[in-house]
Amino acid sequence: MQPFEREHIEIVRKVAPECTLLLKKDDTLPLSAPCRVALYGSGARKTIKGGTGSGDVNVRHFVTVEEGLEKAGFEITSKNWLESYDELLISKRAAFVEQVKQEAKELGINPVIYGMGKAMPEPEYELSLDADGELAVYVLARISGEGADRSVKAGDIGLSDTEIRDILALNSKFERFVLVLNIGGMVNLEPVKSVKNILLLGQLGTPTGDVLADLLLGKSYPSGKLAMTWAPIGEYPSTEGFGDMDDTPYTEGIYVGYRYFDTVRQQPDYPFGFGLSYTAFEIAVKDTDVDEEKVTITAEIKNTGDSAGKEVVQAYYSAPAGKLNKPYQELAAFAKTKELRPGESETVTLCFHTADMASYDTDTASYILEAGTYVIRIGNSSRDTFPCCKVLLEETAVVRKVKNICPGCDLKEFVPAAVPDRDTDVSAVPAYRISRKNLRQETVVYDRDAEEIFGGACTWEEIKRGEKTLDEFVGSLNEKQLSYLSIGLFEDNAGLGSIVGASAQSVAGAAGETTRRLEDLGVPALVMADGPAGLRLCTKYKVVDGKIKGMNESLAGFMEFMDQEQLRQMAAMAPKPDEAELKAPMNYVYCTAIPVGTALAQSFSREVCRKCGDMVGDEMEKFGVHLWLAPAINIQRSPLCGRNFEYYSEDPLVSGLLAAAVTEGVQAHKGCGVTVKHFALNNQETNRMVSNSIVSERAIREIYLKGFEICVKKSQPHAFMSSYNLVNGEHACNSKDIQTCVLRNEWGYQGVVMTDWYAASTMMTDASQRKNKHPAGSPAGCIHAGNDLIMPGMQADLEDIMDALSNGNHVYPITKAELQITAKRVLATVLKLA
Ligand code: BGC
Repeated sequence: MQPFEREHIEIVRKVAPECTLLLKKDDTLPLSAPCRVALYGSGARKTIKGGTGSGDVNVRHFVTVEEGLEKAGFEITSKNWLESYDELLISKRAAFVEQVKQEAKELGINPVIYGMGKAMPEPEYELSLDADGELAVYVLARISGEGADRSVKAGDIGLSDTEIRDILALNSKFERFVLVLNIGGMVNLEPVKSVKNILLLGQLGTPTGDVLADLLLGKSYPSGKLAMTWAPIGEYPSTEGFGDMDDTPYTEGIYVGYRYFDTVRQQPDYPFGFGLSYTAFEIAVKDTDVDEEKVTITAEIKNTGDSAGKEVVQAYYSAPAGKLNKPYQELAAFAKTKELRPGESETVTLCFHTADMASYDTDTASYILEAGTYVIRIGNSSRDTFPCCKVLLEETAVVRKVKNICPGCDLKEFVPAAVPDRDTDVSAVPAYRISRKNLRQETVVYDRDAEEIFGGACTWEEIKRGEKTLDEFVGSLNEKQLSYLSIGLFEDNAGLGSIVGASAQSVAGAAGETTRRLEDLGVPALVMADGPAGLRLCTKYKVVDGKIKGMNESLAGFMEFMDQEQLRQMAAMAPKPDEAELKAPMNYVYCTAIPVGTALAQSFSREVCRKCGDMVGDEMEKFGVHLWLAPAINIQRSPLCGRNFEYYSEDPLVSGLLAAAVTEGVQAHKGCGVTVKHFALNNQETNRMVSNSIVSERAIREIYLKGFEICVKKSQPHAFMSSYNLVNGEHACNSKDIQTCVLRNEWGYQGVVMTDWYAASTMMTDASQRKNKHPAGSPAGCIHAGNDLIMPGMQADLEDIMDALSNGNHVYPITKAELQITAKRVLATVLKLA
């Protein structure tokens, strides 16, 4: 193992406990020493370090729970059970694969595409729980991944009968019992919530098992909070209609997660922002201050328990209902303390802009602060707060004037019947009067049509030396060169082009590159590699005749679902290694898997996120990657989304601020940038290339775009990735409203925008015999909308762009001037990073 690997794994092991939390506790944890442990459950040996798909990081090795506990000195007394469980899984898996193939056949969908991301539900079985010991640990695991959504059934969101039976039996048999959740999303704990201890470990990357051992032994402690509300799945307003193949109506509007549960006063199982640790804290407000610019709360946090810990303090605001209905409360700020020893205190300051409490008024296309009383509360979960001050505004104020986007939505949205009183208990708190006249109003100026740039001959070297401008260089390129610059690396007439994981030539396993066709002018390519749970590269590759040959590590997952004929065809198509390849030495690359997005968000710590970003940036520098395809910050609208484990939170503030911290960590490295994805409203995986999100303008702006906005404004990411789905009938990647008007004109974004892989291609949709309601995205439409790069790049993209340049009847005609703008942005990024 190389020194950097060891160092990085240690960093993750140190910060990951901050991503964990207790949902329930007695006083038996932590233990004073390792002991004999009866270890059971799906995640005991088959621990999940992160989900599947492009977010899966190829590592040298990762530490399972079994291994982590043994390394720490625990003696595992249930080896027989672990072995029998392994055997059982093999036969259950075979039956599951057959069932998926059968379903695909009935739906007329290619089984490889249909099987992508499908998680096998936890099976039912009878294995005896006869091990003894001083402690029992049951590790309940769930996996999910790109390409498929989760299911409400037993064995996925629901617990299987076997799990419920075994967890309850162990809890009563053993004096000390811990239910450990090795999951990336919500499960329904209702049947087992009475057990003694429930630890949400999550999926923590390479050292997952070590982190659990550290937590059990008190070498570290949990200090995370839930970034999503956990409630019975049928109670989320997003469950009904979720995962439709064609159109998914977001009928809950802005009432996502706690915004819904707190407004309708429905008690969730575990509220947003909730998490227990080994100790307890008291929060006391010391001071408040409010003016038209900002709201500031100073609070003292004291550790009142008897072990060390960290607390997350959260400030919420309740805006007055007026013309617009309002959720009971919304998160305005949060802060995490340093480590506090028993009895120790820290004073923290929570601060946010007064204008951040505005709501979006579609009638006037503006963000408004409505007249009335705004109550500010503080606490340590959305259900455990107390008021600390109130803000009085006499007249409604417009704080930002914009224009409406993504029209065409005719949706009957949820409106709360009666919102609980927001200001019953606030007579004693300080009141601050602010005036409409002193609130600043921002007005956005939108782009006019682009004008063609004319340049003279100049070299890339002159640009690099700053002697000539990019305009001069771009002005000297012809339409073909400009088109190549806007499409990722591809070979002419290469049929399907390249497959994910092999569309890059200079780094094995990178997901893509920009063009190499301007190399003779001196313009190098940018290399992109996936995330978000670390850097996804091939662990093994060879260099033959100067070309990289990576070993594709995703194939096994796909091959499982192929029939004999497909396997035969694949074998026939696979290039046979020649003498030179056989002789070439193997090279090895080992990256570090970090906690999945949801776990990072649960840290509620900018410091933890910055450190993980910094570590990824270090590996990018080492292996020559310029753009990391992460963080992924789509809102966790429903627990059913199969990619929620990659995403951060149901709350845009948590998503945006923590993604900004990851961005700062990565971009502190020379030549490295993040790619914030998937922009926007990609909240389900079912039929993901052509599924249409039907959403109101207000929900789009207040919930689904806001996290991206915060991240842009805080950290100026170098790249963005547009998403597959449609929004109100138009593909997000084809929407100028989203990719230009909002992202660039309203938020001032400066970097490049790339499409998601094959977003503008019929390749995937053609693989399905199902008649989809919506067509695939358009390549020229992507350029027209403001994407700068169509990824990973295909001959068809080039042809469509050339056609759109000359054919006035194209659905998305484009001008040379538009292409020059995209080329300029790609070149500016090359200049910055390559
Ligand atoms: C995923 C992206 C990923 C890209 C490249 C797509 O299928 O949606 O998140 O970055 O592939 O691997």
